[in-house]
Amino acid sequence: MSQKSLLVLLLVTIAIATESPALQQLRHKLESNEYNSQLVDMLELSVAGGQLDRVFELLQKMIDDLTGQTNSANLEHASRMAAFQSSIEQLETNLASLQNEVQTTNRKIGEITQAISTLTSTSVSVKKQLEAINQREEQIRDNRAKEIQSVETKQTAAQKVLGALEEIHDRLVKAVLSNQGSFLEETEKQEIIKQVKQELGLNHPIALLLDLSVKFDEVTARKAIELIEQIIASIKDGQQFREQNQTAAEQNFNSLINEVSILREKLGQDNQKTSSTLKNRQNDLKIAQRRNKQLSLNQENTQQLLETTRVQKDLYDSNFRSNASKREGQLNSLKTAFQILRDNEQALKK
Ligand SMILES: *[C@@H]1O[C@H](CO)[C@@H](O)[C@H](O)[C@H]1NC(C)=O
Ligand SMILES: *[C@@H]1O[C@H](CO)[C@@H](O)[C@H](O)[C@H]1NC(C)=O
Repeated sequence: MSQKSLLVLLLVTIAIATESPALQQLRHKLESNEYNSQLVDMLELSVAGGQLDRVFELLQKMIDDLTGQTNSANLEHASRMAAFQSSIEQLETNLASLQNEVQTTNRKIGEITQAISTLTSTSVSVKKQLEAINQREEQIRDNRAKEIQSVETKQTAAQKVLGALEEIHDRLVKAVLSNQGSFLEETEKQEIIKQVKQELGLNHPIALLLDLSVKFDEVTARKAIELIEQIIASIKDGQQFREQNQTAAEQNFNSLINEVSILREKLGQDNQKTSSTLKNRQNDLKIAQRRNKQLSLNQENTQQLLETTRVQKDLYDSNFRSNASKREGQLNSLKTAFQILRDNEQALKK
């Protein structure tokens, strides 16, 4: 219509001068805007040119064109709105599933953290047990070494006493055999007593017996020999007993060490298993945390896209409505013009 504007301007003076009542009525009736004023101007020109039939034809065509535009715009609007709606629904579905995944991953992170805490205390406890078992073994070996040392000391001491007693015994036997009448010399007697006191102690019964005997005669010597033989036998018994006891002690020691080894091996396996499970779980935690970070990022982006799409949809819809109401106004103007001209057809034809 704008290319007609120049023509309109050229002829407007004539048009106004010759404006018919029908056109005055129309100008009065239509809302004042650019479209309506151009429409009335155009009609005025056409009517002034006396082509009324052509005017009706033209108006009808404009009405049909605008109706066609409205219909196709409505179809386009429906399809675009459906597309927007489908995007929004898809985004909402994605968002819900992301939220779900974030929740699931958070729950998983909680479980893994709990497991790590349990495994960590298990690991600490197993390590403590290992330490304790190592200390126990050291203690057992230490005790055994001390025991061996102490037995050796006792056996050596006993052997020494035995040697001395055998020597005294031999001396006494020799004296009994060789000196039938006049018995031991005073010096030899003193020497033997000294030796007995040294080996068996000052208050040993044999020392006392020899010491207190008024006469160190054959009867006393035989009595001392008999006592010494008893002591020798008892010392030998003691040595034998200690040897046998050591065989049992060695077996006991071996079985204790064996128990400790089995226990340590089991603890070692536990420790290894716990450590490797712990490492795996720590790795799982890292993966879950990374995944959650990514999911949260996706969730944020999806949320933003959803909001943007909603805004775009609303903007598009409000533009459409504004266009639609413009079109409706124009259509009403055309219809009103058509009707008024039709009503005044006879007058206009004169
Ligand atoms: C025999 O051995 C046991 C254990 O090794 C020990 O406790 C005990 O005192 C020993 N007995 C003797 C008489 O040495
Ligand atoms: C509204 O009309 C304007 C101008 O004709 C056009 O550019 C725009 O695409 C239209 N918008 C809608 C939503 O129909």
